[in-house]
Amino acid sequence: MTTALQQAGDMRRPLGTPAALLMRGIGKSFDGKAALRDASFCLEWGEVHAIVGENGAGKSTLMNVAAGVYVADGGEQSIDGEAISLRSPLEAAAAGLGMVHQHFRLVESFTVAENVLLGFGRKAAMKTLTDAAAIVSAKSSEIGLPVDPHKLVANLSIAERQRAEIIKVMLLGARILVMDEPTAVLTDEEARTLLSFAQRLSRQGHAVVLITHKFREVAAFCDRVTIMRHGETVLEGARVANVTEAEVARLMVGDALTVAGRPLSRPGDVCLSVERLSARATAHGQSLNDLGFELHVGEILGIAGVGGNGQEELVACLLGLDRAGAGAIVLDGQDISTAKPDQRREAGLRVIPSDRLA
Ligand SMILES: Nc1ncnc2c1ncn2[C@@H]1O[C@H](COP(=O)(O)OP(=O)(O)OP(=O)(O)O)[C@@H](O)[C@H]1O
Ligand SMILES: [Mg+2]
Repeated sequence: MTTALQQAGDMRRPLGTPAALLMRGIGKSFDGKAALRDASFCLEWGEVHAIVGENGAGKSTLMNVAAGVYVADGGEQSIDGEAISLRSPLEAAAAGLGMVHQHFRLVESFTVAENVLLGFGRKAAMKTLTDAAAIVSAKSSEIGLPVDPHKLVANLSIAERQRAEIIKVMLLGARILVMDEPTAVLTDEEARTLLSFAQRLSRQGHAVVLITHKFREVAAFCDRVTIMRHGETVLEGARVANVTEAEVARLMVGDALTVAGRPLSRPGDVCLSVERLSARATAHGQSLNDLGFELHVGEILGIAGVGGNGQEELVACLLGLDRAGAGAIVLDGQDISTAKPDQRREAGLRVIPSDRLA
């Protein structure tokens, strides 16, 4: 099924030029459960290469193997034509591969320069904090990603932390940059800036791997795409121009896509009702004002709006982390407006926060 696409995806490389990163037959199990089985990947110099796949498909695991975080159970890997078996991220860095992880690896109570110095150990060029700050500033201007080396990481925005992380791995010598879902935490504008940077970097002869769930990022910023499903590579390195969103979606989920055609469920009884809810006034004014909605059993209710218009306050009021100024929250017929958070949990109300790690 994938053969035509795979052929279409083959990239012509001048004879004798090695791939930036080549992975073949990679297997990796955790506690006997296979996260990767016979996965392969081929990254060329000068390209931005997307890896897509459903949650749990093995994207992060494959790139963690590439970056020396995990040691594969089997398979072969080479960087720029050199066969390697990495034992640590430092070895990967020495081979020219750096990864910016889904969850950043910066020490919050350190400044950007201190974090970089920490990552460097005692390399010749960087002995003191003053050196580190100067080197960070220079790299930051060179690659066009502004960050203040003297700022504490705890005081940086998410986009700034990500830039600090990128600068850190670039300073460690990355010519291959792997970014694991970097835009999931960014605004659209920040995402465009980051992806343009990735493109610029690749055009200068580096190679970039972008793990993403967003097809429009693949279409707009990537040269090729590899699709993973259940720990395997189901489409390897197709040219983005040769695949459609529908094909990518079908390969990502396999036969499960037929589920999309299922009829709407018929809503049942009201299980949660929010009535005339107002949040406590803050210095910035009223974040929730006379809000009301009903959620029925069997429904998924979406709440849309520009960020910062009361969404966080609504979640805090529903959970009981904040007490509403007025109004009622009724769960299964029981008014929980004054109930404590643990009582609401007992009653069956749970939350998955936007920042899973923190
Ligand atoms: N350190 C670990 N210990 C045990 N199981 C793991 C570990 N890391 C990953 N897994 C499992 O391996 C499988 C692949 O996970 P992986 O994180 O690579 O998926 P992913 O494609 O990156 O998903 P997502 O899009 O959600 O980030 C999953 O079943 C996951 O639960
Ligand atoms: Mg992942």
